[in-house]
This record gives sequence, structure tokens and C-alpha cells, in this order.
Amino acid sequence: VGHIDDVQELRKTEPTQIPQRFVRDMSERPKLAAMVPSPNDIPIIDLSKLVGSDRDEQGRQIVQLKTACEEWGFFQVVNHGIDSSVVENIEEVAKDFFMLPLEEKQKYPMAPGTVQGYGQAFVFSENQKLDWCNMFALGVEPPCIRNPELWPSKPAHFGETLEVYSREIRQLCKNLLRYIAVSLGLKKGDVFEEMFGEAVQAVRMNYYPSCSRPDLVLGLSPHSDGSAITVLQQGKGSSVGLQILKEGKWVSVQPIPNALVINIGDTIEVLTNGRYKSVEHRAVTHKEKDRLSIVTFYAPSYEVELGPMAELVDKKNPCRYKRYNHGDYSKHYVTNKLQGKRTLEFAK
Ligand code: SIN
Ligand code: FE2
Repeated sequence: VGHIDDVQELRKTEPTQIPQRFVRDMSERPKLAAMVPSPNDIPIIDLSKLVGSDRDEQGRQIVQLKTACEEWGFFQVVNHGIDSSVVENIEEVAKDFFMLPLEEKQKYPMAPGTVQGYGQAFVFSENQKLDWCNMFALGVEPPCIRNPELWPSKPAHFGETLEVYSREIRQLCKNLLRYIAVSLGLKKGDVFEEMFGEAVQAVRMNYYPSCSRPDLVLGLSPHSDGSAITVLQQGKGSSVGLQILKEGKWVSVQPIPNALVINIGDTIEVLTNGRYKSVEHRAVTHKEKDRLSIVTFYAPSYEVELGPMAELVDKKNPCRYKRYNHGDYSKHYVTNKLQGKRTLEFAK
């Protein structure tokens, strides 16, 4: 992706027309007029009640979590206990990074077929439509997946800030997976942690500049995540951007201050034999406002072999996915364009 396709640079030129490379076919264009904002559609989970000592309250939250995972594949967590300074600091360094001159950001280029560095991931052909988004992505844990050359020297403290943030998010992911196991009625709460080995954690920062024709473009193509679970932080004062596909309709996720958006990825869909859904989602752009999102993907170690868990397969729920190696799956994921739930075909 050259200079011409960098969306922030493109926006600076105030094009009177959106370049064709970004204009979606009719069927893919977001019908923004038909988007009915419905404030509390996405379930909200209060983590302080889940970890708290009130058993009844805890039970209710577990039921809500189960419903969220079965019917939505998405929920927002409030009272997650992560210090607001951690959340604010990562947002600040992310924003500062995107505001650097292009030449500076291009010192950390994303190589084709990888999802680390600055650029546009998942682009494999000249005629593929581009997303109205600049990305910066890094592998964080375990340390062997890091590419130190891609960790930027500017803004100052980027690396430490990302490490502090990632530690907090990692703990949140572990906690959530434990409650997810409980909500499934699994006997061992740490079943996922044991299975995943040294879990892989990667971060992707998405910067969506405003777009004069949000009706023609997509910020991010529809896809499901290749993770076990994903944690998404929306920038402060963020406009609506994230949408999820629910019963054939695109539903907007309303940003809630200090909440984190969690979604189930393909790994949990496979492990639960489809009981918990990895739901298709996309991002749309805004006419006046830029939007930033910071996304953490939490996934098993690459060596792990995965398939539906025996406890969740029976006569009524026959096995719906084959066993596969998670490293092979990840490779498949990053070397194909984002297209709905197509990557899960790998497990069929
Ligand atoms: C994503 O799905 O990775 C990001 C969506 C968003 O920016 O809200
Ligand atoms: Fe996603």
C-alpha cells in the first residue's frame, strides 16, 4: 500500500470524489440511514458483580454472560477494574503515533501477508476494495512473537505504555475465560487457560479518519475474529463505528465511557461446538469525526490442537468442526482477505 492509499494522507487532500479503490459495491455499502441506534442492545456485564461476594448477583451475571455469548457473541464490560490512567495512556500514545508524519510511520511497514506494523492488513490483490482505515499492529506475548524493529521509538514511552496496558488486558482475558467456562457449565474453570498454553496476545490500533462519503466506504470489512476472545477499546468521545451482524441486520455498538467491548472469536466458537458464536462485525466511518479503536486479540499458543470439547458434543449437538492446529489456522487467517465468517470454513 503506497502513499496514495494511506487514508490519513488521502483525507488531507480533501478529494471531491472518493477514489474507486475505496468505493464499495452496492451490496456492501453501509445503509447508514437505516441504522437505528438502540442504546443498550449489546449486553452489559458488570465485572465487579462477577468477582464480588454476592452469590445471587454473581449467578445473575453468569446467566447474562451466557446469553450474551449465545445470542450476541458480543458484550460490554463495565467496572472491569483497569485503572483509567492505563486506558487513557494507551489511547494517547496510539493517537500520537497516528499523528506522526507518514515518513515516520513508514519506518514500521507491515509486510504483505503479515499483521504487524503500519499499513493495511489483509490486502492481496489490486482489485480488492480498501478499508477507510490506517492500522498499526504488533505481536505482544509471548515475547518470541515480537518484532522489536516494529516497536516505534516515537512517541516516547510507546513500548512501556503498551506493555502495561497488555498486562492488564491479559489478566482481564484470563478472568473472562474463567467465567465463560463457568457459564458453559464446564467443571474446570481454568480449562481454557490450561489448553491454551502460553497464550498469544496481539494488539491492533485502528485509525479511521472522517470520510466525506461514509455511505460509500467501509472503515473495516465484515469479518469474524481469529482469536479466542477480543477486547476492544473505543477512543474517548468516539462516534459509533463498530457494527455487528445480528439476525441479518447491522446493529451499532454504542460507545459507553470506560467500558470495554468483548467479543467471542473463532477459537471459542469451535471449542464450544458452536454454542458460543464468533459474530461477524465491521466498522463504518463518520462524516466529521475521526475514530480510534485499540483491539487486543487473545488466542491459544500456535502449537495447540483444537476441536470441539467432548463435554459439548452429544447426540443432540453433533460435532460441527474438525480438529486443527491453531498455528495453521492463524496462518490461514492472516493470508486471506477479511470476508465475513469465511475463515471458519477452515475448521469445517
Ligand atoms: C475490529 O474488528 O478489529 C475493529 C472494529 C472497530 O474498530 O470497532
Ligand atoms: Fe474484529
